[in-house]
Amino acid sequence: MAEEGERVGILVVSYGSRAAAVLEALSRSEEYNARFFVVDKQRNPFNLRHAVGKGTAEKGNHVVIPDLDAGKICEFVAANKDEIDFGICCPEKPIISGVRDLVESETGVPLLCPTRRFALEGSKAWQRRLLAECCPEANPRFEVFRRSDYTTREEAKRAVWRFLDEVGDEVAVKPDKPAAGKGVGVWGDHFTSRGQLFEHFWSIFEGGSGVVVEEKLEGEESSFQAFCDGKRLAALPDTRDYKRAFDGDLGQNTGGMGSYKDSKDWLPFLEKRDREEEERLVQKIFKRLRGSEEQSRGEWQSERRNDGAGLRGVPFYVAFMHTAEGAKILEINSRPGDPELQTVLPVLKSDFVDLCFRMLEGRLTRVECEAKATVVTYAVPLDYGGCRAKYSGDRRVDLSAAYALQAKEKYGDRLRVYPGSLELREDGQTYALGSRTVCTVGVGETVEEAREISLDGVRNIDGALWNRWDIGSEQHLRRSVRRMRALRAKKREINA
Ligand code: AMP
Ligand code: GLY
Repeated sequence: MAEEGERVGILVVSYGSRAAAVLEALSRSEEYNARFFVVDKQRNPFNLRHAVGKGTAEKGNHVVIPDLDAGKICEFVAANKDEIDFGICCPEKPIISGVRDLVESETGVPLLCPTRRFALEGSKAWQRRLLAECCPEANPRFEVFRRSDYTTREEAKRAVWRFLDEVGDEVAVKPDKPAAGKGVGVWGDHFTSRGQLFEHFWSIFEGGSGVVVEEKLEGEESSFQAFCDGKRLAALPDTRDYKRAFDGDLGQNTGGMGSYKDSKDWLPFLEKRDREEEERLVQKIFKRLRGSEEQSRGEWQSERRNDGAGLRGVPFYVAFMHTAEGAKILEINSRPGDPELQTVLPVLKSDFVDLCFRMLEGRLTRVECEAKATVVTYAVPLDYGGCRAKYSGDRRVDLSAAYALQAKEKYGDRLRVYPGSLELREDGQTYALGSRTVCTVGVGETVEEAREISLDGVRNIDGALWNRWDIGSEQHLRRSVRRMRALRAKKREINA
């Protein structure tokens, strides 16, 4: 492994502005001088600048692989393997298809992400069954439906209604595949009758996926993330994601329109013990999975060590719902969240390259963050998230005024601008593609201060984009506090 001061070659597999935050955090290392090798979904201007410097011409260490196919990623690593010390992969698609297993066995370059076996988010049904074994207290009642089990639509409908007779109509209906929060339908929000519920259910079947139907959980959400070296977990501060498209949490689920963190490790509407409960539950999942790895010793061809190393990276980004009955798990992802990671990396105190080496070598200790609040606001194209059915106008986006806020030292490091689904074209201009275009991160002493900086950044983006204005707003935070208080009162009633 590299010694202090040594140059290191780092592969970053990029999807969205999360990768820009990763590149920036790595490049801030004082101990290491990182040289980047980027696999990009498109020619992201930020990634190009980090991989090839100021010039925009393609160089050997930046490659565009739009489908992020594991085999093609592996070819790129193989061609550069003598110069790459390790890689980081955050997007779920290559993780689920086993990019780590492939790259490690073909090239010997270690990757920071779970192996295919531990890509939990590949199946929500698998997650629910795992939780039923190791933390049933955090699992809602659920049932898994497979298309092949029913010959007719009517037969499937009867089966779904039988389950509703058992648990009530208030349920969530989810595709049994990773869909980044999209495709999930919730009673009261997306349907209000059994007929509508079944239409949603059937559309998922027609899309070729199984369906998980589970009890609707009422409460306040938090996102928990942890780094892992295979032996232990190092938790990151909690963040709050804003999944819905519009202000006031209205509209369809999106990949996440923004997020915030408080200056402490838990969110303003939670208490320290809620955070401890989250950690306790995640430790149970970790122990259960490490156990399963030990039991399967000998089965694995691609693992060099059977010591939990398959879980290396961010194996658990867990979406919690804090309910009257305690913390419940909405979903487990085997990668960091987007925008949750951008909420944390700008205030990481630990040297990120050193942290990566520690994860690779099984020497992970605590992860230190500054006691600061952050707010991430995403600017997205007009035809994203149901804002407009169609947008056929100019898609050019100019970030220079937003960057000028940093350069003029109005904000300096307290504002970060991370391009996501943005493409640098031959004309030297950047264009919004279909997904979330760019996020701005504000860093402050309080959530309100961080929010003002983040919004000032967004206001200075020139382009036909839109964004939520209430990420981290005082009103939103107060509403969460109020709701949580009411839930706790209900809990006391239940326990009395
Ligand atoms: P998921 O992809 O499972 O995280 O779901 C996306 C979003 O749908 C979550 O962030 C919740 O807002 C909502 N959701 C998912 N499952 C449930 C549930 N059981 N009860 C209530 N809301 C849910
Ligand atoms: N924040 C949602 C996700 O990363 O899936």
